[in-house]
Order: sequence, then structure tokens, then C-alpha cells
Amino acid sequence: MSRIVYVSGDFLPEEEAKVSVFDRGFTFADGIYEVTAVIDGKLVDLDAHLARLERSCGEIRLDLPCSRAELAALHAELARRNGLTSGGVYLQVTRGAVDRSFPFPTGIRPTLVMFTQARAMPRQVSRGYKLLSVPDLRWKRRDIKSVGLLAQVLAKQAAAEAGCDEALMIEDGVITEGGSSTAWIVRDRTLISRPLSNAVLPGITRAAVLSYLAETGFSFEERAFTLEEALAADEVIVTAATSLVMPATEIDGQPIGGGQPGPVARRLREIYFDLAAEGGALG
Ligand code: PDD
Repeated sequence: MSRIVYVSGDFLPEEEAKVSVFDRGFTFADGIYEVTAVIDGKLVDLDAHLARLERSCGEIRLDLPCSRAELAALHAELARRNGLTSGGVYLQVTRGAVDRSFPFPTGIRPTLVMFTQARAMPRQVSRGYKLLSVPDLRWKRRDIKSVGLLAQVLAKQAAAEAGCDEALMIEDGVITEGGSSTAWIVRDRTLISRPLSNAVLPGITRAAVLSYLAETGFSFEERAFTLEEALAADEVIVTAATSLVMPATEIDGQPIGGGQPGPVARRLREIYFDLAAEGGALG
């Protein structure tokens, strides 16, 4: 069934939704994106995603064509028009369409595209992700949610070819993040994830998990960790708006913590779902 897609002011059947070949998203990856989860028909932590969108756009001096309230209304309207109950809304904004020339153009309108992706979001998973470690080949401003994702495409393709679900990217001997997720390990009921910096995307799911961690009795240590530590951890978890709180049960063919989804991941995923019913942990 054809989806309804939003393109710069219009809701159109996906076959009719078009962007110019001169769009700077296409020629330069000069754009920013967001993915917001939808669970039981509710957009999860939408305001936090829109705040990160505004920050990313600010960092590359791209003027968003709509206010945060307008973007929130567009998300809700698009989900409604597509009858989306489980999955996500993808948003991409680019600097617009103009003859190819590197510096910022003047006097053109940004392109704003949004579409839905239906995806099953089970409250619990019977099987954890298999991860493949790969070198992190990305640029130095990974805190910006840029549509320049070629390194992640290659990382995740390598993972897929190895029969894995996600890549685990490594730089200078430590794990940066998953191919499209934040990476965590668990040791003795303590969650460990690296600090935010230009080296990683500030995950909204990461922030959501941290916001309710206190009520679980688990603690948090913010530091980088190695592949060896991950292999020896009680649990490994990846978080993202697409996979939510996802246990990882294998890295490079080696089982983690018995090879089954662990209790910390299960508990954190359950609470995430409980809070999603109210629009997410971040309000
Ligand atoms: N990716 N790190 C990277 C490199 C990511 O691409 C993502 C999300 C995350 C997690 O961020 P969040 O919790 O806000 O989704 C971390 C999205 C889902 C994607 O590219 O599809």
C-alpha cells in the first residue's frame, strides 16, 4: 500500500513525492535528519528529537523552514494519515535545490521531507542482536545528525554480510557507538556508556534511559570501553529510536552473558515501553 509522504508543504502519495536532482542533500549530503519512534500510535520523545534537530541545523547554519510546534504537528498528521501505530517517522531537511556549487547558496528554500516506516516494536525480544566490530571511518562531527552516512552504510553492510544485525564501531582502541545506535555494556548492575562529545551522536534513547535509571536500582558510569570489556561484560545493549533498548547477545561470533537477552536490558526496555504510552520518558 502506498504511503503518504510530506514534501515541503504537501502531503503526497509516495509515487508522486519528488526532490530535484540538484538538491544539496543529493549532491553534498548537505542536510540533517531525525528518526522518532512511534509505539502504540504515540510519538516517543518527539520534543527531544526536535530539539536535537534544531541543534544539528544550527551547527551547519541551516535554517529550518518550520517552527518546533509546526514540525510536531506535521509528525502527528503524517502518522495519522498513514495509520502508523508502530515504527517511526523519518524527517530530512536539506539546504535546498540549486546548481552545484560548494558554498552556501542564498535565496533558496530548504527541502523538508518526512515519511513513515512501519516496524514491529515488541515489548520484549526473544533474541538479541548479533554485532560485528568494524573500524569507525566517520568524520569528526558525529554529534551532528548529518545525512552523510556512507561510513555507516559500509559498516552496517559488513555486519549484514556477516549475518549480524548491527555494527559496533571502534576507534583508538575503544568503542564509539553502534552503526546507528548508542552502545552500552553492563557490569555488576552498572551501565557503562561513553560520554557525549563530537565523537558520538547524543542519543535521545540514551537520554531517555538515563532519565529513569535511578528508579531501577542500576547505576551509571560514563566512560569509554574497549571491545575486550564488551566481550567480557554481563550484558551489551544498543539503543536507538529504531531498535529502542536492544540486548546484544553476540559480538564477532562470541556469545555475551550466556547468549540470551539479559535482565538489565529486559527491565530497561519494559520501562521504556511503559513511558512511551505517555509520549516518552523525556516528556
Ligand atoms: N540512528 N548513534 C548513531 C550513529 C545513530 O545513527 C543513532 C540513531 C544513535 C541513537 O540515537 P537515538 O537514540 O536518538 O535514535 C546513536 C537513527 C535511528 C538512524 O539512523 O536510523
